[in-house]
Amino acid sequence: MVTMSSTHTGGADATAAPIAFRELLPSPGGADADPAAAYAYPGDLDRPWVRANMVASADGGAIGPSGRSRDLSSAPDRRVMGALRALCDVVLVGAATARVEGYGPVRVRRAWEGLRAGRPRTPAVAVVSRSLDLPEALVTEAPADARTLVFTTSDSPAQRRRAIAEHADVVVVEGVSVTPAHVVNGLAERGLYRVLTEGGPHLLAEFVAAGLLDELCLTLSPHLLGSGAPRIVAGGPDTPGAPDQASAQSTPVRMAHLLEAQGSLFARYVRE
Ligand SMILES: NC(=O)c1ccc[n+]([C@@H]2O[C@H](COP(=O)([O-])OP(=O)(O)OC[C@H]3O[C@@H](n4cnc5c(N)ncnc54)[C@H](OP(=O)(O)O)[C@@H]3O)[C@@H](O)[C@H]2O)c1
Repeated sequence: MVTMSSTHTGGADATAAPIAFRELLPSPGGADADPAAAYAYPGDLDRPWVRANMVASADGGAIGPSGRSRDLSSAPDRRVMGALRALCDVVLVGAATARVEGYGPVRVRRAWEGLRAGRPRTPAVAVVSRSLDLPEALVTEAPADARTLVFTTSDSPAQRRRAIAEHADVVVVEGVSVTPAHVVNGLAERGLYRVLTEGGPHLLAEFVAAGLLDELCLTLSPHLLGSGAPRIVAGGPDTPGAPDQASAQSTPVRMAHLLEAQGSLFARYVRE
């Protein structure tokens, strides 16, 4: 099984050396906050809860000079990401992130066993794509109980669709765009309620504009990237089927917690 690269979107090793997470909010405490407890999903969900995990520089950039988010990541960021993956039922990404970051199926980690009792040992990966240009390992190497789920459109290349359907679950949406509602409904039908989207900025923007993002877990990384770096949300009406970002509403969010480790801040914002 292929491991994701060690970036923000890469594999986090929950078994590595201890990292001290300090809780700053809501109650300033010692350096012993447990990310797995701090990021627990709401209990008794009766619909998918969509959480995003993104990293940004101190001046708001989301993609570093390497063209990836790895320039912004750190050991504590990877630890939080590992906890978030351990807690979720499905990791949801846009195909560009899957390609750039070299996604494969999520790797099994022994440290996650307690958090995954009664569920597959790893979350499935769901990917949204029109082109169906996807990393091969992501399609072919997922375990049977966490098959990769591909959301695509009816105008996607038919031959690729057939080839992918031999290994992965494919959901075909009529038209030119997979809307966030299509994704949420498809995940709900499969009982995948604890959703973790890892971006990228274009996919995340669509969820924000559709009012379907419940929670943003944001790592603020101690770097400056300057004005050329995209934000954690990107895109606009020139993307086929994408909502008009300029007309998006302002959605209030509440800070559920703020943690600190090694100079990175970990904010958890929940939609009011
Ligand atoms: N800072 C962070 O936390 C973070 C997190 C993730 C990624 N990133 C970075 O962000 C970059 C990639 O993100 P991105 O914003 O360019 O792309 P993205 O959101 O990851 O993926 C966009 C792609 O997803 C598919 N897609 C999106 N909306 C769709 C829709 N409505 N219907 C059908 N398909 C749809 C299309 O795939 P096809 O092209 O296959 O048709 C589209 O090109 C990389 O540089 C990555 O390193 C940063």
